[in-house]
Amino acid sequence: MYRISELASLVGLSRTALLYYEKLNLINGKRLSNGYRVYSDRDVQQVLLIQQLQSGGLTLAECKSCLESKLDKSVLRLRYNELEKEIKQKEWSLGLLSSLLGNKTSKPLHETLSKIAPDAHIDWLKVQGFDEKQALRIKWLSKDMNEHDKYMQDFMRVFETLESWGPNSKEDTASAFKLLSCNPKRILEVGCGKGNSTIVIAKLSNAEIVAIDNEKLALDELKGKLTLNGLNSRVTTHCVSMTELNFGDDKFDVVWAEASAYIMGIENALSKWKPLLKDGGVLVFSDLVWLTDKPSEASINHWKSYYPDIQTIETRKSQIGKAGYQLENTFTVSEQAWKDYYEPLQKRLNELAPVMKNSQAMFDIQNGVNLYKSHLGEFGYQFFIAKSL
Ligand SMILES: C[S@@+](CC[C@H](N)C(=O)[O-])C[C@H]1O[C@@H](n2cnc3c(N)ncnc32)[C@H](O)[C@@H]1O
Repeated sequence: MYRISELASLVGLSRTALLYYEKLNLINGKRLSNGYRVYSDRDVQQVLLIQQLQSGGLTLAECKSCLESKLDKSVLRLRYNELEKEIKQKEWSLGLLSSLLGNKTSKPLHETLSKIAPDAHIDWLKVQGFDEKQALRIKWLSKDMNEHDKYMQDFMRVFETLESWGPNSKEDTASAFKLLSCNPKRILEVGCGKGNSTIVIAKLSNAEIVAIDNEKLALDELKGKLTLNGLNSRVTTHCVSMTELNFGDDKFDVVWAEASAYIMGIENALSKWKPLLKDGGVLVFSDLVWLTDKPSEASINHWKSYYPDIQTIETRKSQIGKAGYQLENTFTVSEQAWKDYYEPLQKRLNELAPVMKNSQAMFDIQNGVNLYKSHLGEFGYQFFIAKSL
């Protein structure tokens, strides 16, 4: 037999807690003639059993019902769901701390931040010592501070030999150019890559063209093409970020951005590039949009992670209007342009597969290509030709 203080120390509870157990009839001490309350081994076991039930999140009253076999299953289900939610939250917290410690991928954190706090996300990356180019690449490509260098090395290895870095075709570029209402004298091309569109625009116009990109490798190839085509005198290249464009008073008739404005965000680009245009100048950009009201789950999940700001054409049109432009024309980039992009990319992935096993970048790029092959039509690139008002 145990006195209440002995029982309390055996089960790790206070005397007051045990008196409450007693009050609820969960344990039944016997009173001795001297007035002391004593408990049996059975009481000790009863308290241990109750403690087990409490560890499932049950209150003392619920433990009592459970011991009497009267507990409604819905109460258990409720506790279960609450606990499951709590565990998921804790797992997220654990993952987050682990990624901040550099022990685990920070991809989920970056995906969430890109969606809910895109500007603060970039600023935070910069504070950690990443330059703007790296910060944007973490946001769009690696989504991981800890594995970023390796990821980008693999990513560039895949793309460096490819001619096309996005779904574009000479025909679509030419169609967009022919829809211009002006005869441009000065054109700024933003994110020109290896210059597929630059060459088309240069050949279709007599304009002076400034082509910018922040990837030197791409600009070096473009320079080679310019020489081959005798276009050096009219087209100059600059390795600079699209977020830091400043040409003073030298404004442009057209700002051209194929598959690149998304990098700084469409609404941001609409407002930041407007001052670069002359009065009545035209912004031509292409952007990935939903082409259906009911995209499949596969497409939604993919773009949630790779382009969280994907919109419908109508939404983009309204943003263009709000930013002080008048939409002059819009059309969807051909499926051929996508094929010209992903078929050579698939070939390159196949070539590199044996030597780049376990590469996260390869895995992500292949997932993208798989989606283009199976779900193109639910989404696509859309050209917007918008006059600055
Ligand atoms: C999807 S590719 C499109 C290239 C080309 N316009 C096309 O349609 O094939 C995006 C391009 O933007 C460039 N880019 C990425 N971030 C940039 C930045 N901050 N400033 C300038 N160019 C950038 C990339 O190097 C790449 O060439």
